[in-house]
Amino acid sequence: MSGPQCIAIDGPAGSGKSTVGEQLARQLGYLYVDTGAMYRAVAWLALHEGVDIYDAPALEVLAQRAEIVISHPHISDGRQYTVTVNGRDVTWDIRDTQVTGAVSAVSSHPNVRKILIAQQREMAQQGRVVMVGRDIGAVVLPDAELKIYLTATLEERARRRHVELVERFGATSPQVPSLEDLQRGIERRDDIDHDNMRPAIDAIVIETDYLSVPQVLGAILPYVEDTV
Ligand code: DC
Repeated sequence: MSGPQCIAIDGPAGSGKSTVGEQLARQLGYLYVDTGAMYRAVAWLALHEGVDIYDAPALEVLAQRAEIVISHPHISDGRQYTVTVNGRDVTWDIRDTQVTGAVSAVSSHPNVRKILIAQQREMAQQGRVVMVGRDIGAVVLPDAELKIYLTATLEERARRRHVELVERFGATSPQVPSLEDLQRGIERRDDIDHDNMRPAIDAIVIETDYLSVPQVLGAILPYVEDTV
């Protein structure tokens, strides 16, 4: 059995796609690419350089000269991977609330998408890759042999984000918004991301509200084994 060369995992914020994708890639010995991190890296660069996130031509130039590298973690501080943009380690910076607030606007510019999608296709060319995002199965890698689409209700996605943030910063940290604020934030991002959220028609849809991460992996693995 040779297995699928490309596995696409798509889903909205908080659907579990990053956790599941990273663990699946590790189990299979595949490369893991989180495409959301690439959009976040461009958003971070825009904020860092004071580029207006609604200025499409300026953002296109910025995306063109953003050299984004996603590599093995090297540092054990809880990161899944290391992201650098133009040589600077932004792994944690791209997760902060300012970047999270700006990234949907950045990723809605078609020319920014074109540039990042071309890079994503190049990364997948070597094969044995698990690529995670919103439009991977439908747009980036329509020929991927296995396409998974993870869903969860808004309430459950907000709850997961809250647990994640509490684990990272502690329950009383000002870095942890209330559950209601998190839910509102995710809802707002869902609205903006909606146009670029494309479940492939041939994707296997897994509703994850009542499933643990090992259970989601257990649901995916038989499909991996069936793909020759
Ligand atoms: O998955 P995430 O929250 O890290 O994604 C960050 C943003 O990037 C999100 O607003 C949607 C966008 N995105 C996208 O438009 N297409 C992708 N393939 C991945 C992410």
